[in-house]
Amino acid sequence: MDVFDVDQINRLIANRRSIYPRAFADEPVEDSVINQMLENANWAPTHKLTEPWRFVVFKGDGLKRLAQFQSELYERVAGQNGTFENIVFEKLKKNPLKCSHVIAIGLNRNKKGKVPEIEEVAAVAAAVQNMQLTATAYGVGCYWGTGGVTYMEDAKSFFDLEPEDTLMGFLFIGKPRIEWPEGRRKPVGQKVKWITK
Ligand SMILES: Cc1cc2nc3c(=O)[nH]c(=O)nc-3n(C[C@H](O)[C@H](O)[C@H](O)COP(=O)(O)O)c2cc1C
Repeated sequence: MDVFDVDQINRLIANRRSIYPRAFADEPVEDSVINQMLENANWAPTHKLTEPWRFVVFKGDGLKRLAQFQSELYERVAGQNGTFENIVFEKLKKNPLKCSHVIAIGLNRNKKGKVPEIEEVAAVAAAVQNMQLTATAYGVGCYWGTGGVTYMEDAKSFFDLEPEDTLMGFLFIGKPRIEWPEGRRKPVGQKVKWITK
């Protein structure tokens, strides 16, 4: 087993930040970085090796297709249930175009019955964290967003998901044109109890 540079890893984890499309430069992230993010996602822990993560990567004209699809779906669904807001519609139409790549995050339930769904959600979240940490290591910005069409049933097929699968949102990726943001957390001691006897 290699010996890792623990100080570097600690700094990497503490410096992972959500960086939003409004802060992305008009400059593409190399596909090699995206591929490494996906490779590292694939090494997330997975109970009974179900490997439930599924990803659809959008770039170039694919981002235009995503923008069109999600704004039109939102317009139809939110129009029908009376929740339509123009500001959300405009964001769904424009945000993908500010990104270098967008990765749709799916949870596949093919192996239903093997493990409870919450464990598959946990595995996919771990895969997403691997992608975020990898992006951080390259100085690439990203954030996991769950707004827009994420929980709309009719969105699933566009992302190659079946009705029993779950769309868990999107990873929006781009090169930051801002200073790397500071993080904010309350001390971990407030969330931990040790029992020693
Ligand atoms: C499951 C999940 C969903 C999220 N969805 C959104 C979202 O829809 N919109 C958003 O602005 N941020 C979203 N975030 C990012 C959080 O807002 C962000 O992690 C938090 O503000 C802490 O900032 P940091 O990631 O820079 O430490 C999401 C994070 C997680 C884990």
